[in-house]
Amino acid sequence: MTQNSTEHVLVTGGAGYIGSHTVVELIAAGHKITLVDSLERSEYRIIEGIESITNSKVEFHKIDCLDFSSLDDLFSKNKFTSVIHFAAYKSVNESVVNPIAYYKNNVGSLLVLLEVMKKHQVIDLIFSSSCTVYGQPDQVQVNELAPFKKPESPYGSTKQMCEKILEDAATENFRIVSLRYFNPIGAHPSTLIGELPIGIPNNLVPYVTQTAAGVREKLTVFGTDYNTPDGSCIRDFIHVSDVATAHVKAIGYLKCKTEKRIFEAFNLGTGVGVSVLELVKKFIEVTGVSLKYTLGPRRSGDVEKVFADPGKINTHFGWYTQYDLSQSLLHAWQWEKKLRGV
Ligand code: UD1
Repeated sequence: MTQNSTEHVLVTGGAGYIGSHTVVELIAAGHKITLVDSLERSEYRIIEGIESITNSKVEFHKIDCLDFSSLDDLFSKNKFTSVIHFAAYKSVNESVVNPIAYYKNNVGSLLVLLEVMKKHQVIDLIFSSSCTVYGQPDQVQVNELAPFKKPESPYGSTKQMCEKILEDAATENFRIVSLRYFNPIGAHPSTLIGELPIGIPNNLVPYVTQTAAGVREKLTVFGTDYNTPDGSCIRDFIHVSDVATAHVKAIGYLKCKTEKRIFEAFNLGTGVGVSVLELVKKFIEVTGVSLKYTLGPRRSGDVEKVFADPGKINTHFGWYTQYDLSQSLLHAWQWEKKLRGV
């Protein structure tokens, strides 16, 4: 593939779920990329998948973002124009059991990265944040002006802390976009890359697809007595490739800006709230597979209902979703079948 851009984007955690899909979209947009990942929670085959989809060789470095000297060395050898920082842990449950590891990895790696960027005067940064920063917002359809509520988990705390750090860091001449993801699901339509959950999945869609594939006995719908039309929680499920394209837009957004200091947060969701039970029924409808599920008690720490007001990102980035829920679920199922060899 020819490179028609002067952008050279460093992608940390680029072998992860959202990172890998973003690398595909960056390459498709003509950007030169360098991918770093510790591979602690991903596998080299994801990088091979990116290479197959894009028909290009990916420059990959196995680096942990807590490692200042390796990052420093990489920045010395490359002239990066921007950085997208995905590298982080993302399991809510695990963060409750092992909070220190979450603060060290999620907050620590951001601080190391900022130090290295400052040293090498790389100033444009896109950060992976989460709607979890809102806790249970007063408005169910939440916009970026909503205050941070009490975080539901140490994972949520790390995202709030990182955003605060970034807001302050911007005064040291950084230009930062924080993208607050809602619930990314699905996989690349090629089925060459997708999510690789470790152990028993916490998240809904990997649990659904593993149950449909016979890996799990049955899905439990956590809570049917919420104040929602069908009693189950409501979320904003968004195709991971749509999440990915927003990062390409974010790079372009910063490039068009003349300000020296920027900190802007954007919701990254569809704007449509879907209940857990609606999603389960839609999965059965679009895939035609049977899915054993049972109605169970609430999961502690779950927010009742939240979905994005995506008005800001639509207006400022000119970004809109390309995939609907049916396509997202179909791609998730195709990826699961590929993983299981069925
Ligand atoms: C949360 C965060 C999100 C974060 C993600 C990381 C919120 C609102 N969202 O997502 O920002 O990036 O964790 O993991 O805080 N469910 C079941 N059965 C299951 C699994 C899940 O019913 O086996 C239900 C949950 O109770 C929830 C919904 O499905 O109502 C979605 O759960 P999940 O996929 O884990 O994502 P969130 O908790 O919304």
